[in-house]
Amino acid sequence: MKKIFVLAMVFVLLATVFSGAVGAAPPNQGGEGQTYVVQANDWLSKLAEKSYGDVLAWPVIWKATLAKRAEDDSFADIPNPNVIEVGQKLWIPGEAEAATLLAEFSAERAAASPTGSADVTGELNLLCVVELDWCEGQISEFNKLYPGIIVNWVRMSSGESLTRLRNEASNPQFDVWWGGPIDSYIAASQEGLLAAYDSPNAINLRDPKLMKAADNTWFGIYIGSLGFATNTNYLAEHPEVSAPTSWADLIKPEWKGQILVAHPSSSGTSYTHLCTNIQLRGEDAVWDYERALAANVLQFTKSGSAPARFVGAGEAAVSIVFSHDIVKQIEKGLPLKLTFPSEGTGYEIGGTALIKGAKNPELAKLWIDWALTPTAQTLGPKYQAYQAPTVTGATLSHPELLEVNLIDYDFEYCGSNKKAFVDRFTNEVANADDLKK
Ligand code: F6P
Repeated sequence: MKKIFVLAMVFVLLATVFSGAVGAAPPNQGGEGQTYVVQANDWLSKLAEKSYGDVLAWPVIWKATLAKRAEDDSFADIPNPNVIEVGQKLWIPGEAEAATLLAEFSAERAAASPTGSADVTGELNLLCVVELDWCEGQISEFNKLYPGIIVNWVRMSSGESLTRLRNEASNPQFDVWWGGPIDSYIAASQEGLLAAYDSPNAINLRDPKLMKAADNTWFGIYIGSLGFATNTNYLAEHPEVSAPTSWADLIKPEWKGQILVAHPSSSGTSYTHLCTNIQLRGEDAVWDYERALAANVLQFTKSGSAPARFVGAGEAAVSIVFSHDIVKQIEKGLPLKLTFPSEGTGYEIGGTALIKGAKNPELAKLWIDWALTPTAQTLGPKYQAYQAPTVTGATLSHPELLEVNLIDYDFEYCGSNKKAFVDRFTNEVANADDLKK
């Protein structure tokens, strides 16, 4: 319960961070409930937080408004709970009605969870961006539900997979894309590479506004924050330095030739680091920072998580990696210390999507439906994947990784500008000709 509460608080924080200007707030609902007219920058999870102190109670307002509308069409029609419009009339139930609706909603959600079937057969082509062992593990779990589906898969980093989808747009070889920060999914969606799919299990998402595309071209399946991994043997041998605790620390001369990080052209991890610093420093000043950082980088890698392993093996002293990947390597026994930048760190929402023109769309939809269940999202830790889940009912293995100073990461901005920012990094900071594999 504590973990769920902590995650709920994180999402309250995220919802607050992302809310922008606040419209007139609905009062806390003790009694009968009341109507509410949507203000600018409202969305259901925010109203639920204001009314019930719980962002996860948003389905209550959605369901109650639809029920009212059945009798009175002045109430809003909300086919997609992700989208409410200024001026729409909602019904915000009192607490007793809210509790009943929430229980009904949970029951519906449980009924919508796929139970699997041995009768479904075919081949599913999966483009997998998470760690190799999680790709393998998740496929084996999917096959327990659907033993008749052969999953052909390839693991690629985010940027590589986006390039692959672009190159194959006229003849897609993959059906479903699973994993990697949504910046790439937003870019792909804008380029017309993804297909909309209204998964019934999107209803499970804690915050649909934040965790799925309004047009259903992608869904969020996990969350993770960026951190620094420092080799503790190096620290012991160099008492004059301490593990970096700010982005500014990374450009100090003491780290010359001691930093490993992926290249943002291939890696979603590194693109998150780049766009975090763009947001912290501005589009003009960031390039000086990135050049100073590059001067300390020993080598850029292809995969985002690899630098944690390399630094653990003593090839360099420091890496910039998602914190869950650092925890994984610490658990495996590598001598690493995890720290976070005090100025604020970026975070990812990992995505999944149906690929436009997929040859096996129905199987891809089964994968996506399953990926949006608490059962599927609870499996990560079994394969040492410690990202936070995006759906209710799935427990969080490492809440502390989100209890850090997270920046107000603007996914839409970073996704829309991904190509331009990566090109600029490649042209002005470091080319991508010789990435360490
Ligand atoms: O599975 C590990 C992970 O860090 C994910 O959390 C992330 O979405 C993905 O790898 C990014 O990989 P890359 O940086 O190689 O694109």
